[in-house]
Amino acid sequence: MKRNILVTGGAGFIGSHVVRLFVNKYLNYNIINLDKLTYAGNLANLRDIEDKPNYTFVKADITELYEMRRIVKEYKIDGIIHLAAESHVDRSIKDPFTFARTNVMGTLALLQAAKEYWESLPEKYEGKRFYHISTDEVYGALELTHPEGVPAPFTTKASSMDDMAYGTEFFLETTKYNPHSPYSASKASSDHFVRAYHDTYGMPTIVTNCSNNYGPFQFPEKLIPLFINNIRQGKPLPVYGKGENVRDWLFVEDHARAIDLIFHEGKIADTYNIGGFNEWKNIDLIRVIIKTVDRLLGNPDGHSEKLITFVTDRLGHDMRYAIDSRKLQSELGWEPSLQFEEGIEKTVHWYLENQKWMDNIISGEYERYYEEMYKNK
Ligand code: NAD
Ligand code: TYD
Repeated sequence: MKRNILVTGGAGFIGSHVVRLFVNKYLNYNIINLDKLTYAGNLANLRDIEDKPNYTFVKADITELYEMRRIVKEYKIDGIIHLAAESHVDRSIKDPFTFARTNVMGTLALLQAAKEYWESLPEKYEGKRFYHISTDEVYGALELTHPEGVPAPFTTKASSMDDMAYGTEFFLETTKYNPHSPYSASKASSDHFVRAYHDTYGMPTIVTNCSNNYGPFQFPEKLIPLFINNIRQGKPLPVYGKGENVRDWLFVEDHARAIDLIFHEGKIADTYNIGGFNEWKNIDLIRVIIKTVDRLLGNPDGHSEKLITFVTDRLGHDMRYAIDSRKLQSELGWEPSLQFEEGIEKTVHWYLENQKWMDNIISGEYERYYEEMYKNK
């Protein structure tokens, strides 16, 4: 079936993997990538598919309702996969207003534009879908009841190195929202608006909440690419607090595969949590990154450990995130394709092989931001 799919934020990290997957897999779909190209948007992430006949890029800002109205109508959009957002917690602490504007007002503008267009059609909402990509951070923070780790109760392919869990609780689709950072508060608010458009107007919506992603094309303000690059350049590795916070890591291509599956087979008005039962304490993850980068660069084992620098903790730093993704696994049959060892090896390898991609980013706006941020640490 021919379809016109709007992917917002397709020039960012996860969005670029979603766009690539859809453009290559669905030759009968037109994929329209709508992105404002903020500091985080980079068309170099999509060089390999930009000339494909089923791909179109549109530069636009999701907060501009008139533009959103024009675009959904002009491209006769029948499905939306909404990823565009401000996504970095540290930036949200410095500038919460930008997060409210983009993540809340931007999502609302897109919802409203889709509503008006779809309701104007004879078939109305039939065959339409508004799929909103959200985060596990909306659920708040879990306790670190087992700081040394206990055997993980559920394992999947994503997990293996230690198969540890650092607490007994996990985020379920039914877990009450309890966001703490301006970032997670803005995402929580946008999730509520999406559900409200279903409950009030009958829009066919879906929301998914995913754990931390890692992999190629991630902007180097986030932990994994930042640390890989700093090790390469012999720069300090700023570990917030004692490095005891726990995150649940998923390879980005596995997230993109989940998005594909849920976009096509997920139940309307439903929510799915996406994660690989792959919890890591920051400091342990950092040691794995150091080991891998040193090995691939031909440095002696432990060479870059000296770069670890404990710095002032992030304000309101959530202690532990851990997703229970058994609903997605049992209802739709998704499972991660990669074990963490393979994923991290692939990722480090990619950043070392694509230094030019990294250097181009770091020479620009980000460099100034980075200097400003660490001046205070
Ligand atoms: P990212 O910061 O790498 O990319 C965001 C993209 O959105 C960029 O291309 C940027 O230019 C674009 N954008 C920002 N403001 C815009 C605006 N006003 N109009 C149009 N485009 C705009 O983010 P990411 O890590 O790829 O995350 C994508 C989505 O997935 C976000 O909604 C995020 O909340 C969610 N998410 C991310 C993670 C993660 O670990 N990165 C985990 C779960 C959920
Ligand atoms: P990040 O990649 O910013 O993702 P999120 O905050 O959305 O989970 O950070 C991952 C973890 O790493 C988080 O606990 C904060 C920590 N961190 C550091 O210790 N140092 C850093 O320089 C960064 C960017 C993050």
